[in-house]
Amino acid sequence: MASTKVTKVLCIGAGYVGGPTCAVIALKCPHITVTIVDLNQARIDAWNSPDFKLPIYEPGLEDVVRACRGRNLFFSTDVEKGIQEAELIFVSVNTPTKKSGVGAGFAADLNYVELATRQIAAVATSSKIVVEKSTVPCRTAESMRTILEANSKPNCRFDILSNPEFLAEGTAIADLFNPDRVLIGSLQTPEGKAACSALADIYGNWVPKKQILTVGLWSSELSKLAANAMLAQRISSVNALSAICEATGANIDEVSHAVGYDSRVGPKFLKASVGFGGSCFQKDILNLVYLSESLHLPEVAAYWRQVVEMNEYQKRRFSKRVVDTLFNTITGKRIAVLGFAFKADTGDTRESAAITLIRDFQSERAFVNVYDPQVVEEQIWLDLSEASPASPLENIKKQVKICKSALEACKDAEAVVIATEWKEFKEINWSEVYKHMKKPAFVFDGRLLVDAQKLTDIGFKVTTIGRPALG
Ligand code: UDX
Ligand code: UDX
Repeated sequence: MASTKVTKVLCIGAGYVGGPTCAVIALKCPHITVTIVDLNQARIDAWNSPDFKLPIYEPGLEDVVRACRGRNLFFSTDVEKGIQEAELIFVSVNTPTKKSGVGAGFAADLNYVELATRQIAAVATSSKIVVEKSTVPCRTAESMRTILEANSKPNCRFDILSNPEFLAEGTAIADLFNPDRVLIGSLQTPEGKAACSALADIYGNWVPKKQILTVGLWSSELSKLAANAMLAQRISSVNALSAICEATGANIDEVSHAVGYDSRVGPKFLKASVGFGGSCFQKDILNLVYLSESLHLPEVAAYWRQVVEMNEYQKRRFSKRVVDTLFNTITGKRIAVLGFAFKADTGDTRESAAITLIRDFQSERAFVNVYDPQVVEEQIWLDLSEASPASPLENIKKQVKICKSALEACKDAEAVVIATEWKEFKEINWSEVYKHMKKPAFVFDGRLLVDAQKLTDIGFKVTTIGRPALG
């Protein structure tokens, strides 16, 4: 079967993955009409807003949307019309960890993927290529295929592809423009291979052919989980070493540098931190743990589970170090937390370490001032409420204040905790901050961000992850 040229693409799910990915496809493929649909009207309205106040913060995204919106890129809530018109459909809805039922706390909740699949089957009157973009457990493509085939109309053929997204938030546009690789999984039948080459042709508009990898469906699904698990494992390994550094006087930055200099290891993803966050790492590893257990491989499950446990330990260890350093109590003390997003250059807070730290400080009955340059106030309240389900929001608001600047957050505080590596925290006028803090003034750098010696010279007592305390 010859590969068909796709001219109409639909994306279901206008989130952090679907939005940027399909906007870049529209930019790079002017001959393709790309429609992004979402059930959430407010989200679609934001994508369509006249002043380009987009629902997600991602450097470079606005320029891409400005160049294509209304030309060959459209945002809508009309899912049915979108399905009918499209030749190729990306399913990019969220797949959070299940909160209840079988596999709660580990397995992915595939409800949204299934709903989207059923809707495609119910509405489609012509053949489609359906692409799973959301990160899903292995074999989801198989379930999607069964649902589509059982519900399709005569003369409608569905080919399923797996095409996991490897972009990282904060660098999504650069990652999409210049991906290390594009991975496409398909059935190894003539029809499966034809669908695969139709999708490969889309990426071929800007990605060199040798970087477009085509594999079987299962390998593709597993590779996404494996890639995230390996990346997260590097961070947990470094964070485990950071604890040894603090206890011995070694410096984790020096250790990472020395280890990463070995070209077999490589320098990236070796930065010690207060713990990894984001929508993927924890979810995907728990998924891998669940898969391993389902396959009766308990040792494999335990191995991967430890990566997540080390991350929890790292967060716990950091809050404890704050309490210990502040003379073993923070009750009634004011602590400024700089950064709430799970990493810099995003407004996303999913699984952010800052949430755990603030919850720990709250339970020690400290007062917390929070500042983040991108995260909106309602999101912070939502996350803190979810983290402490037993406390009503009015009570949380008595302990936590959201501030408009780093300087405001640090005023009258006894300690500053850097939770996210925003560049602006490096450039704060630290002498000014020092003047307005209680003394002794403490800084806890959970991101290896600031110049500890410079801050010590100003008068701060500085504690950095992976180093003995200074000052
Ligand atoms: C999601 C998954 O979380 C991740 O596992 C996967 O790798 C890629 O897709 P993300 O785009 O970051 O990541 O999620 P989110 O920002 O929550 O976007 C999902 C969107 O889908 C939301 O806007 C939601 O409203 C929409 N949605 C969800 C639908 O349109 N229909 C549904 O049935 C469910
Ligand atoms: C990740 C993967 O990188 C991406 O390929 C996949 O598609 C989705 O999951 P993302 O979660 O957006 O992307 O961000 P990433 O840059 O990987 O950071 C994840 C977390 O690890 C952040 O909290 C970050 O601060 C932390 N991190 C990263 C470290 O603590 N140290 C490091 O060296 C790198």
